[in-house]
Amino acid sequence: MMPCLESPVFYLSWSLVVGGALYFWQQTRVHTPYGRYTCERTRCCSARLGWFLQEVPSLLVPLLLLLLLQEEETGTSPGTSTGTSTGRTLLLCTFMLHYFHRSCIYAFLTRGRPLPLMTVVQAAIFCSVNGFLQSHHLLHCTHFPHSWSSSARQAGGFLLFVVGLSINVHSDHILRNLRRPGEVVYRIPHGGMFEFVSAANFFGEIVEWCGYAVVTWTFPAFAFAFFSACSIGPRAFHHHRDYQQRFEDYPRCRKALIPFIL
Ligand SMILES: NC(=O)c1ccc[n+]([C@@H]2O[C@H](COP(=O)([O-])OP(=O)(O)OC[C@H]3O[C@@H](n4cnc5c(N)ncnc54)[C@H](OP(=O)(O)O)[C@@H]3O)[C@@H](O)[C@H]2O)c1
Repeated sequence: MMPCLESPVFYLSWSLVVGGALYFWQQTRVHTPYGRYTCERTRCCSARLGWFLQEVPSLLVPLLLLLLLQEEETGTSPGTSTGTSTGRTLLLCTFMLHYFHRSCIYAFLTRGRPLPLMTVVQAAIFCSVNGFLQSHHLLHCTHFPHSWSSSARQAGGFLLFVVGLSINVHSDHILRNLRRPGEVVYRIPHGGMFEFVSAANFFGEIVEWCGYAVVTWTFPAFAFAFFSACSIGPRAFHHHRDYQQRFEDYPRCRKALIPFIL
């Protein structure tokens, strides 16, 4: 599971872990400046264009690597399909499914305020590097036995991924419908996991990437799940505090990120 010391994958994965911890620490001091925390004089682009541009590298880079590998394999051993190639293709498609939704569906439905250009550039760099890391490791460094899909761990991880993705998509749908087109107001979200936590979409996304790490069982996937928790975990607490200050009637029993706990 752990890549060897000389491997660039090893260093990139550790960069995610260290970068995630630093990002977490930074957010204990300042809010990440987008959405409701955008500074007024920042240069921005439309939310639709911004979300598309920043997330699409995590779809295109894995797709490119997958197509290149398939072309290579067709040239060397035509017509063969091993457990390894089926396993890695399925797992990569799972990763790309999330980013297809984020860049090609979420981006075009969003009713969010414009995104700061700096956020878009930083996120696009992150998505390119992470897209490369996850797909390169899966396609070139991982071996799956023929029985890869039959273990309880993989089934459990996949289930977690699907549940997390569903919560994330459903929660973003609830948030979107709190606004009419063109409106920029904040309302109290109700329904789904919002009955339990203020940041149901972030809770779903963290569950999703934990599930992906469990089913994939690779260091880069665990590093990415850790980074995601560090990136959107503190933002969940900022949103929770913002709701409590903004609305006197905000539900008192609602937690910030983890139902009944935190
Ligand atoms: N894996 C990662 O590291 C990572 C990092 C960042 C984001 N994401 C994912 O990307 C998605 C969007 O992230 P985000 O940080 O933009 O989420 P967010 O702050 O919850 O906002 C989501 C959308 O809903 C709107 N919104 C939020 N609360 C609202 C309310 N109470 N009333 C009306 N509208 C509301 C926002 O508008 P405004 O923009 O106008 O506030 C925005 O368009 C989430 O699914 C998140 O999980 C993942």
